Amino acid sequence: MRKALFPGTFDPPTLGHLDIIQRASLLCDELIVGLALNPEKDPSLLSAEERRKMIEEITHDLPNITVVTFTGLMVDFALEQQVNLIIRSLRAASDLEFEFSMASANRKMSGLETLFFMADEKYSRISSSLVRQIGSGGHRLYDFVPSQIEERVFHASQKKRIS
Ligand code: COA
Repeated sequence: MRKALFPGTFDPPTLGHLDIIQRASLLCDELIVGLALNPEKDPSLLSAEERRKMIEEITHDLPNITVVTFTGLMVDFALEQQVNLIIRSLRAASDLEFEFSMASANRKMSGLETLFFMADEKYSRISSSLVRQIGSGGHRLYDFVPSQIEERVFHASQKKRIS
C-alpha cells in the first residue's frame, strides 16, 4: 500500500495546495495531509481546528485523504504515520534550495524519499502569507483559495487587521 504525507501549515489552504493534493491523491492509496503546528509561524490567521475543517471540506470528494495535525519534526510524524513517501511542491527555482536541504536531511534521518510536484503555473506565485496580506487589504480571495472557504478566510483576514 502506498501511503504518502503532504505536510504544510496551510494558513490558509490555497488553490495551489488543493491542486497538489488532488494530483498526489491519484498516485497513492492514502494521502495524509499533515497540518504542521509551527510555532515559528505564529500568530496564525486560522486556528488548527479551522484549518483542519477547511482542508476536509475542500477535499471531501477525494476518498483517500486524511487530515492530521502534528507538532515537532515532520520526518518523525512521517515515521509515526508509517508513510512510504513525502510529497512536496516546487513553485519556482527559489524553492529548490530549501527543499533540497530538507529532502536530504529527511532521507538521512528516515530513509524516506521526497517526491516533488511542479506547481501548476496558475498557482506558482501563490503563498499563504500573500493570501493573508491580500485579504487584510480588503480584497476578495476568489482567485487564491477554494470557493467553499473564501468567505471565512476573507473575514478572518479582515478581523486580524482590525484586532
Ligand atoms: N501552492 C500554493 N502555496 C504553496 C505551495 C503550493 N503548491 N507550496 C508551498 N506553498 C506556500 C505555502 O503556503 C507557504 O506559504 P507561507 O510561507 O506564506 O505560509 C510557503 O509556500 C512555504 O510552504 P512550505 O514550505 O510547505 O511551508 P510550510 O510552513 O507550510 O510547511 C513544513 C513546511 C511542514 C516542513 C514546516 O512548517 C514544518 O512543519 N516544519 C517542522 C519542522 C521540520 O520538520 N523542519 C524540517 C527539518 S529537515
